[in-house]
Amino acid sequence: MTFGLCACNQQTDSTSVLQNRIDSLEIKLANTYKPGFGDFMGSIQAHHSKLWFAGQNENWELADFEVHEIMEAIEAIQKFQSEREESKLIGMINPPLDSINNAIEQKNSILFKNSYILLTNTCNSCHEATDLGFNVVKIPDSSPFSNQEFKPKE
Ligand code: HEC
Repeated sequence: MTFGLCACNQQTDSTSVLQNRIDSLEIKLANTYKPGFGDFMGSIQAHHSKLWFAGQNENWELADFEVHEIMEAIEAIQKFQSEREESKLIGMINPPLDSINNAIEQKNSILFKNSYILLTNTCNSCHEATDLGFNVVKIPDSSPFSNQEFKPKE
């Protein structure tokens, strides 16, 4: 009897030790830095701009790189921002991205331009749908990145 009770108390002790460890790990996890929705969008904005200048210069290798950077950021939003209501709408960007991928594969400047317009319109459709209609994305006039060459390497 005494032995049984003792073992039972030991079990309770180790269970509460484990529970304390779980609690402190959960607190640590909750305080771990993860990029916010806006951080991903800022990155997408930069790659959206670079993608344009790569395409304009028929630098298909760079364009391919940039469109994949956008795709990675979209996947990261789905993974790290899944609790945000807006994330449910992110899939609308896939068809224009597919279209751009096609244009790049075919090295087709006209298809690239049309797909890019579609992509940009989709950025804005989502902003409209998420009460961010004031946040208007457009085709860039000039590259903000004067330290990057967009022409293909000879
Ligand atoms: C889910 C639909 C959705 C799509 C698709 C989308 N956005 Fe956004 N965008 C958002 C949301 C939500 C925010 C606000 C994020 C926040 O809470 O900080 C945002 C914010 C932004 C911002 C504001 C960042 C700032 O600090 O000024 C930019 C720029 C931006 N998006 C660019 C783009 C571009 C470029 C595309 C298309 C390639 C795009 N977005 C597609 C939902 C979307």
